[in-house]
Amino acid sequence: MTTIQHTQPVLIDKFNRVVDYIRISVTDRCDFRCVYCMDDEMQFVPRAQLLTLEEISTIARAFTELGVKKIRITGGEPLVRRNIIKLFEDLGSLPGLYELVTTTNGSQLVKLAQPLKDAGVKRINISLDSLDVDKFKRITRVGDLNQVLAGIETAREVGFEKIKLNAVILKNRNDDEIIDLVNYASERGMDISFIEEMPLGVIGDHDRAEAYYSSDEIKRDLEQEFKLIPTTETTGGPSKYFKIAETGTRVGFISPHSHNFCDQCNRVRLTCEGRLLLCLGQEHSVDLRKVIRAHPGNDEKLKQAIKDSMLIKPKGHDFNLKEQPIIFRHMNVTGG
Ligand code: GTP
Ligand code: 5AD
Ligand code: SF4
Repeated sequence: MTTIQHTQPVLIDKFNRVVDYIRISVTDRCDFRCVYCMDDEMQFVPRAQLLTLEEISTIARAFTELGVKKIRITGGEPLVRRNIIKLFEDLGSLPGLYELVTTTNGSQLVKLAQPLKDAGVKRINISLDSLDVDKFKRITRVGDLNQVLAGIETAREVGFEKIKLNAVILKNRNDDEIIDLVNYASERGMDISFIEEMPLGVIGDHDRAEAYYSSDEIKRDLEQEFKLIPTTETTGGPSKYFKIAETGTRVGFISPHSHNFCDQCNRVRLTCEGRLLLCLGQEHSVDLRKVIRAHPGNDEKLKQAIKDSMLIKPKGHDFNLKEQPIIFRHMNVTGG
């Protein structure tokens, strides 16, 4: 289990929370269009506005020099960005970095699981909302379940320390698959987290309040089949973990609505355009692309901007599923 050791934390916000984790979105593009994440028709960031891979490395290095121990590469789908393995290789060799991890939809893993492992990625999280080909297609709009399942098998073969599945459960779409998903994870020695949908960006054909399925409902469903033992284990993420007595599988619940975890927040996010977001559910941000392009090669300016950003990290999100989202960014821009 991960316990991050601090030498001397540098990034501490107004609420005394230590920031030792950055989630970096390397692209807002994706080969899927999950109904809770993206609208049918999306405008993507023009390529010229993206941070280059070198700029991402520079920012990541500055964060590790300021005490950040964990980097998660996200998207969109991170593995569709061109030359992405080069970035993983650069980050994998950063001194002081304790963990390099990634969250993927699994579609590229047949090809890329081995290069990721070779670059130093220890754990990966793979999204999997359904084990039924048709339901999977309805949720992802375009995804091919068999391609993802083959990717998961390749990831198992290359031997990551841990593979975690993520499932967003939506009422009447996949709430009947909770037990099947846990069995699938158990049989393969993987963890699984269930995530409550968050209202990020307006999505025309999807009613989030209607689709809401709480962690407590998921837990209740699981208890019909398994005995759940509470644990205090943490991966430094927001999941609250239980162990399935029958199989030893860890089941996590990410419950921004029903069990808010903002008081323990340890992370910030970098968008693919170089905006440093201080909270997933708020707009407080600093434009790091502007800082590095105005002062190329000047790491001190960059680090000062990062340190100053701690002053504006907000206390937490104000998600409300019944109203129109107050955050207009879709999840693919932020990287979750
Ligand atoms: P580990 O615990 O490190 O394995 O990862 P994780 O579960 O934090 O990361 P992952 O990328 O798998 O994200 C799973 C879900 O948690 C996504 O839906 C994220 O949006 C959500 N999540 C991660 N961090 C936060 C956070 O700070 N606030 C909220 N509200 N949701 C978060
Ligand atoms: N609410 C909750 N989780 C979401 N994800 C994408 N969009 C949302 C949302 N609106 C999940 C994906 C993936 C992780 C990075 O975020 O399913 O597992
Ligand atoms: Fe792509 Fe992940 Fe968003 Fe689905 S949730 S559309 S896989 S970025």
